[in-house]
Amino acid sequence: MTERRFAKITGWGKYVPAKVLTNADLEKMVDTSDEWITSRTGIKERHIRAEGENSSDMSVKSAMPALEMAGLTPQDLDLIIVACSSPDYLVPGVATIVQDKLGAKCGAFQIAAGCAGWVYALATASQFIQSGSMRNILVIGTEIISMGIDYTDRTTCVLFGDASASVVLQATDKPAGVLAYELGSDGSGAKSLYVPAAGTVLPVAANIDKIIENKLSYLHMDGPEVFKFATRVLSSSMKRVLDKAGLLADDIQLFIPHQANYRIIETAARMMRQPMDKFMVNIQKYGNTSAASVPLALVEAFEEGRCKAGDKVLMCAFGAGLTWASAIVQLGEAKAEEESVAESWISGGRAMYMAKRAMNRVQDSVQNFMLNWKIRQVEAARRRKQERQSSN
Ligand code: ACO
Repeated sequence: MTERRFAKITGWGKYVPAKVLTNADLEKMVDTSDEWITSRTGIKERHIRAEGENSSDMSVKSAMPALEMAGLTPQDLDLIIVACSSPDYLVPGVATIVQDKLGAKCGAFQIAAGCAGWVYALATASQFIQSGSMRNILVIGTEIISMGIDYTDRTTCVLFGDASASVVLQATDKPAGVLAYELGSDGSGAKSLYVPAAGTVLPVAANIDKIIENKLSYLHMDGPEVFKFATRVLSSSMKRVLDKAGLLADDIQLFIPHQANYRIIETAARMMRQPMDKFMVNIQKYGNTSAASVPLALVEAFEEGRCKAGDKVLMCAFGAGLTWASAIVQLGEAKAEEESVAESWISGGRAMYMAKRAMNRVQDSVQNFMLNWKIRQVEAARRRKQERQSSN
């Protein structure tokens, strides 16, 4: 029989630039207030890159401590994946520059899947390990999102910050690591969160005046539309990945959601019928750091002792694309007396699991009905407001 392989997290590291942009700073730049930003998003401050600091530099700074903790040198790596939508250059991707700066001798590629990119990268890396073709993979999430932000646009500039976080995945034959994942996309919503210029639709050289005049090289976002998408997809994706793993939400010790908006996380906790203290939140310190958001929260959860060996952690992200991705990771090695997920499913836990899942599904239908009703109410109010404004 072929030996089963698991992809276990053995090292982690983070890097955030020193420069801090507070809500008070933003009050001086645009028509906003600390009260509005805090109550609508949960964000207090975010970090911004130093002049001349690039995504490859930040990636290396989060990768080095992760490699050291895993007891590896860059030469031991079989692959580097960098989740990033703000690379040093449009071409090539940032991963090869990171490989060179680290002095690694392996393949390297970038995944651009918006804020969900790092969870996509984690799922991809775990496949290389589980197939038996690789043993040591560095999975980085880095974003210098401030470079694409218009700091005169209050609807986007208060939300985002820069950061990098890395994880080392290593092969093990003990049941641990990535237990299940779920990836999704809906490109029909691509323009609700996008940078219009610099791709093939609007090449820079031929459209420079139009791009500058209409600020088309900046991130454009339909906030309320993304909000609706996020509240729907966060809990539905988490439920799907739990189903795939044969687990219930109660079996998860820590949820690590994408840090985009505190209200989105609260809604997800309600939809999952889990207490907020099981949800990792660090949005107040960093804002939305896109592809770095989930790994940064994971690293801080380790640092703060919020999770330990044997715990099952569910990570879920959503973002530009539109994309979403969830993964369940069992940290460290399973305790000797603990049954593997598959074993517990077969040995009697199955009937209880099926009963609880059926009950959850009924509650979900009621909850979804209520959420859709609330969304319709908000949309109707928004339409009425627009009609009033256009008739005045
Ligand atoms: N300060 C003060 N007022 C503001 C600000 C601000 N920074 N931004 C918007 N407003 C105003 C609006 O102009 C509007 O005013 P009006 O009523 O006079 O027209 C009012 O506040 C309400 O605006 P909404 O957009 O309806 O506010 P909402 O409660 O939806 O919050 C927000 C906006 C925070 C952007 C929310 O929609 C959100 O979080 N959306 C999701 C964004 C997100 O997660 N994006 C990242 C996805 S991940 C990735 O890949 C990058």
